[in-house]
Amino acid sequence: MRVLFVCLGNICRSPTAEAVFRARLDSTDLAAQVQFDSAGTAGYHAGEAPDRRATESAQRRGYDMRHLRARQVRDEDFEVYDLILAMDRNNLADLRRRADSRFHHKLKLFLEFTTAPALEVPDPYYGGPEGFDHVLDLVESTSDGLIRHLRERLAP
Ligand code: 4NP
Repeated sequence: MRVLFVCLGNICRSPTAEAVFRARLDSTDLAAQVQFDSAGTAGYHAGEAPDRRATESAQRRGYDMRHLRARQVRDEDFEVYDLILAMDRNNLADLRRRADSRFHHKLKLFLEFTTAPALEVPDPYYGGPEGFDHVLDLVESTSDGLIRHLRERLAP
């Protein structure tokens, strides 16, 4: 089972999701059966480490994302990944435009799996530090729902 987290730049929201899910999943028996990555719909930060504000907010909660490097979504991602989770509606619309319609069933809003009263993870890039904590709150409250969904899909 392969899951791709997608935002715009792949330096704030989707690497945060990748780091949090890596940590959460590693404490379950599903770790060996699920692969994760993250990517951006845009390529202007490709090759860069995550935004320092995102890295520092994550580190305060015990998640290390310093080793991650940004990349843009690639055409083969739509074949390779089983679930492609967009952080906001613009990301989802960009993915839908780009992907062949036979892959559209794989494209979903990340927060479809949450118990939080929100549908989108707001872009924190141009805001203050509280935006990065809000991203972490939303990602953390989505963890269990996504892990539950993966468990159901992996059940024989
Ligand atoms: P992300 O945040 O999509 O969560 O990685 C952004 C990063 C960079 C830009 C916008 C959003 N930017 O405009 O460069």
